[in-house]
Amino acid sequence: MTYERLFRTVLRRIPAETAHTLAAQSSRLAIAIPGVRTWLRRALRPEDSLQITALGRAFPSPLGAAGGVDKGATWFEALGAIGFGFVEVGTITAHKQRGNHGQRVLRLLKDRAVLNRMGFPNPGTQKVARRLRSRSGDTVVGVNIGKSKAIPVEEAVADYRASARRVGPLADYLVLNVSSPNTPGLVSMQAVEPLRSLVTEVQAELESIGADTPLLLKIGPDLSDGEIDAIADLALELKLDGIVATNTTADRDGLVSDPSLLTGGGGISGAPLKVRALEVLRRLHDRVEGRLVLISVGGIETPEDAWGRILAGASLLQAYTGFVYGGPLWPFRINRELAQRLHACGGSTLADVVGKGSDISGARDGPRSDHMDGQVDTSGATQRAPALVGANRPVGRSAA
Ligand SMILES: Cc1cc2nc3c(=O)[nH]c(=O)nc-3n(C[C@H](O)[C@H](O)[C@H](O)COP(=O)(O)O)c2cc1C
Repeated sequence: MTYERLFRTVLRRIPAETAHTLAAQSSRLAIAIPGVRTWLRRALRPEDSLQITALGRAFPSPLGAAGGVDKGATWFEALGAIGFGFVEVGTITAHKQRGNHGQRVLRLLKDRAVLNRMGFPNPGTQKVARRLRSRSGDTVVGVNIGKSKAIPVEEAVADYRASARRVGPLADYLVLNVSSPNTPGLVSMQAVEPLRSLVTEVQAELESIGADTPLLLKIGPDLSDGEIDAIADLALELKLDGIVATNTTADRDGLVSDPSLLTGGGGISGAPLKVRALEVLRRLHDRVEGRLVLISVGGIETPEDAWGRILAGASLLQAYTGFVYGGPLWPFRINRELAQRLHACGGSTLADVVGKGSDISGARDGPRSDHMDGQVDTSGATQRAPALVGANRPVGRSAA
């Protein structure tokens, strides 16, 4: 049975959060069987041409699992084994917390989207630090930290510092999440002055413990263009390593799902985010001109989406909702098609094409807008990639 059929007949009837937990648990059990992890890694391994060096690390593929997929650092090795080039664990908080009550993740099938109001349920930085300390595989793991709900916004900086101290040295990169719409007051920290204080304090914390971990910010899609520019400028001024864009949106415009599903707050991810996430990426790319690593996330469903983000300036990509609808072979398919596009345009490495949209004819066409009535495009059909004219720009820190 194909995943699409399994999804249509079985999975969509299981509450989204339960299905996610089952996927995590079964994957963890599967790779614990001797030989399975190695076999998966071999069978689903991204082509060597997809390897990209960024943030001082070699990533086997630019496609990562976004924040929220592995909230508690329990199945990142399984995600790495099925072809994700990295996993951003979290969001984790200094204090463990249960998150919001009630149904807090809903699939919006007609919109190819998910609505979530989870509120950072997670086991806390202490437990996650223990799990990361005992990691045995070689999956690249970023850690995304957020504000504990019990801590008032005025004390958020100390709360982030505590998290950075515990998990910073164990992460391949660290992300300050200031953009979840589900933690009261959090998005207000995206204003320049609160951000300046947060970033400088966390940098000081990392320096005090001798951790050279790359530090990034995760921002939301609902910021104005001026606010995005201001954050980009601040990131350059404070010598951050990169920006992850974007988190979920509070915007409900244009959604076709039953309005009763859309009440009760929460952020929307998936297809409705595609256009804005690409706009934000382009704006950031124009502003930072290759001086920061840009991780693009939001509405990546197809190989065209992924390729378009790379041409628009993303060295790394992440997805959550595309994976939910696409299934366990989805990262493998995206990787395979990305490699084909790279070869077709004459690039030998991905770094050759990052941000080369304007040098590759047809690359600024924007995302596909054809809706498929809740159907998932799993065909992965290859489209011809246009020829590469420009080439070769280093990305972020060089490999350690
Ligand atoms: C159920 C769910 C939980 C999420 N949890 C987090 C989280 O804990 N931290 C975070 O930074 N982003 C979280 N996100 C946002 C994703 O990381 C991503 O930014 C967003 O979903 C857009 O990407 P997508 O369209 O590929 O899903 C979550 C998204 C979903 C759907």
